[in-house]
Amino acid sequence: MTNHTNHGGRPGVLAALVGLGAALTGLVGWRALQRATADRALLPTGRALITGASSGIGEKFARRLATMGFDLTLVARREERLRALADELVGVYGIQVDVLAADLAREEDIARVSRAVEAQPDLVLLINNAGFGTRGSFTEVALERHLDMIRVHDVASVALTWSALPRMVERGRGAVINVSSIAAFFPSGGGSTYTATKAYLNNFSEALAAELQGTGVKVQALCPGFTYSEFHETSEYEGFDRGHIPAGLWMSAEQVVDESLAALSGDNVIVVPGRRYQAMVGAINSPMRGIIRNTARAVRRRWNPDR
Ligand SMILES: NC(=O)c1ccc[n+]([C@@H]2O[C@H](COP(=O)([O-])OP(=O)(O)OC[C@H]3O[C@@H](n4cnc5c(N)ncnc54)[C@H](OP(=O)(O)O)[C@@H]3O)[C@@H](O)[C@H]2O)c1
Repeated sequence: MTNHTNHGGRPGVLAALVGLGAALTGLVGWRALQRATADRALLPTGRALITGASSGIGEKFARRLATMGFDLTLVARREERLRALADELVGVYGIQVDVLAADLAREEDIARVSRAVEAQPDLVLLINNAGFGTRGSFTEVALERHLDMIRVHDVASVALTWSALPRMVERGRGAVINVSSIAAFFPSGGGSTYTATKAYLNNFSEALAAELQGTGVKVQALCPGFTYSEFHETSEYEGFDRGHIPAGLWMSAEQVVDESLAALSGDNVIVVPGRRYQAMVGAINSPMRGIIRNTARAVRRRWNPDR
């Protein structure tokens, strides 16, 4: 039975976890090792399709994969951003880059991107990354926003994965990365649909990975914590102050991408970037879980008051 006992705010525990993580991440050459592992993980290359490639984590995936020689298909709504990125990557790396403007909250656009996936015989990597957050309690947020979120995070990811997998399995090679969130582990007020859609991605990825064992195709649920990107710059996050979150909890999108790609050479389906967040997730199933959940809730309240 899950323990929901309120142990009150314990900022000392969070500080201890952050300190522990800082010490571990200080290991010499750790990032360089991750990059080298990432480079080995998927070679030889092919085409990668990335949703939400117009900014943040998706854009960093595109840049990183371009350095590794992948051809790319970039998907998002802001077509001009995608075109500028495509022009830059083609110019610098001589790869092929396709741009597909699509709103993944619309069923017809999901179907159009699915058809594009099916039409790409060289697709070896699908990254379901597009996403957004909302602020406010469940009923304060318009129903259509909840449903949009379910479509962008889950319906699109399921549809694109369904379209991509047969060819990957046939070739005995490929990977699907579903960009989830650390929030999947911490259901809390003010983000009910967000945490639920991300928990779905974790569960979906684990089940699919089990089903695909021995096929040469990998599935990953990537669960970042607070990451510098445009996620907290949308109209929904107006007034959001990054300073309300402890500095040690922020990660760069580059770190998230490097840890994700490096992990493809291993067997972990659930990938949590950053030692601090790994420690928190590890503690969820320990006797400390009440403290960890309440600390996470306290952090969340800093940017989502009244929750
Ligand atoms: N940043 C964080 O702290 C954090 C933490 C955990 C998980 N994540 C997850 O990481 C993923 C990437 O987010 P990010 O941090 O990189 O934020 P971001 O910079 O805001 O990027 C979000 C991307 O998703 C695209 N997108 C949003 N709605 C879309 C729609 N309806 N149709 C198509 N594309 C859409 C955006 O492109 P357009 O606006 O051009 O459509 C953008 O390219 C998301 O799934 C998010 O939940 C982020």
